[in-house]
Amino acid sequence: MTKGSAPPDSDWWKSAVVYQIYPRSFADSDGDGIGDLRGIIDHLDHLRDLGVDVVWLSPVYRSPMDDNGYDISDYRDIDPLFGTLADLDELIAGLHERGIKLVMDLVVNHTSDEHPWFLDSRDPSSDKRNWYWWRAPRDGRTGGEPGAEPTNWGSFFTGPGWEYDERSGEYFLHLFSRRQPDLNWENPEVRAAVWDMMRWWVDRGIDGFRMDVINLISKTVPLADGPETPGTGLSYDPTVVTDGPRLVEFLGEMKREVLDGHDLLTVGECVAIDVAHARTYTDGDSGFLSMVFHFEHMSLDSGPGGKFDVRPLQLPDLKENIRVWQDGLATSGWNSLYWNNHDQPRIVSRFGDDSPDHRVTSAKTLGTVLHLLRGTPYIYQGEELGMTNQSFVDRSQFRDIESLGWYDVAVGAGLPPAVALANVASRSRDNARTPMQWDASPNAGFSTGDPWLPVNANHDVVNAAAAWADADSVLHHYRALISLRHDLAVVREGRFDLLLPHDEHLFCFTRTWGDEVLLVLANWSSGEIPLPDGLPNLTGASLLLGTHVDGGAVLRPWESRILRLG
Ligand code: NOJ
Repeated sequence: MTKGSAPPDSDWWKSAVVYQIYPRSFADSDGDGIGDLRGIIDHLDHLRDLGVDVVWLSPVYRSPMDDNGYDISDYRDIDPLFGTLADLDELIAGLHERGIKLVMDLVVNHTSDEHPWFLDSRDPSSDKRNWYWWRAPRDGRTGGEPGAEPTNWGSFFTGPGWEYDERSGEYFLHLFSRRQPDLNWENPEVRAAVWDMMRWWVDRGIDGFRMDVINLISKTVPLADGPETPGTGLSYDPTVVTDGPRLVEFLGEMKREVLDGHDLLTVGECVAIDVAHARTYTDGDSGFLSMVFHFEHMSLDSGPGGKFDVRPLQLPDLKENIRVWQDGLATSGWNSLYWNNHDQPRIVSRFGDDSPDHRVTSAKTLGTVLHLLRGTPYIYQGEELGMTNQSFVDRSQFRDIESLGWYDVAVGAGLPPAVALANVASRSRDNARTPMQWDASPNAGFSTGDPWLPVNANHDVVNAAAAWADADSVLHHYRALISLRHDLAVVREGRFDLLLPHDEHLFCFTRTWGDEVLLVLANWSSGEIPLPDGLPNLTGASLLLGTHVDGGAVLRPWESRILRLG
């Protein structure tokens, strides 16, 4: 490819920037306190003016909302909370008119327990019985008593991954909440039903799928105990259920049955995946997906106790992890790039500094590092404003099933409530889910009603209206980052080389494409850092984009520069 040229059409997503919308928290058009499709339609110009190419929409399907829509009871309809299929068609048209594509969430590892397939399946004589994982109690044990579960698998939301059904005397598997039973993908009828549903959405005009926990769909049969997590009596080792023996076969079937012949963006959320598996799944010739989401960089600030076991991030660990993924997918496969989504706390509060002095600069610098990597960047709603974590001070303020479940188990096991609260407040998914901050009005312009989750008190300062009006805002910086990706082949395709891997405060790297070299210098700290030895020669370098306009031999707190080397 020559300098500045775009990738072939079939790889259009290689030059794209994706924006994730969590519909419940984006914009509420009818005053019920919950975001909806018409709310999104009302804000499409925000997305157009930001410059993004794709929207990933978290689930809007019919759902009892046990896990805010990741528990689907009808894959072919919209939940009335969010609107109607006609609203969705209007959203697709409104996005397409603005040159933006739509990627829908595909949640098919599990359904809701209110899905008709599961309701049928509860009857042992039903032809749907084998659509889910029904199993008898452990040998010699009575169903319902502690430890009688067919395997020791824990749920990702804590507690056993099996629920006892009195009526049939058997358990069903749920790797998430007990209201999210796992589908049995060994059954070809299940796969055929999923392919059919996916084709139905493609025919409706969508442009891709974000595939929820897709590397859990193939289980190792017979189901067997995993290594016990000390002190729990359960196995929380994710690798017992990830990347199962038939996953590649199932993804290959999906490709043949649904994806081939369409230029779709497909991104597979993959739990506990390593770079070798990611390469297999995303290889341009022999793979199945455009890219995957991995979690490795999101677990570097947690201890052995899991995501709520909060530890400070060591910058060299993050840089090494990013290097491994950049190098590992340099010649085959493709990276997705993200700091935030609806499952992660806000990055400016997590890796940056959300104090008034540093919030804007650190949010810009975190954006700069991510958007200058090779791969497809994802922006989560509000990230472009530098939105921060919420200040949670009491259990009653949480809505998220995972946060509440973890807090209760931790406190039940003896962790002091104040410690449990601090941990959950720092990592809760509810941090990402507070309403989008559109303006400084009482509910931040999100809703005229009572928002389902309180609006962050800082919306008087942190909001979209203020950001559009301020040329120095995080928002305008993100616009510029998106333009750089669109305009420069070196940003899309260039080789990544990490500099100063052991430096604890600087994140520096180059991107090289032919004779063009970009140097990214980022001060990942709230102190001043002199430029060290060991950087490329800066004579003749020009500043493409920076947090500050005047360069010098010292990087100010959270300062970053994108330089074109002469
Ligand atoms: C991953 C989703 O991102 C998360 O929000 C959800 O709770 C689980 N999968 C279960 O669907």
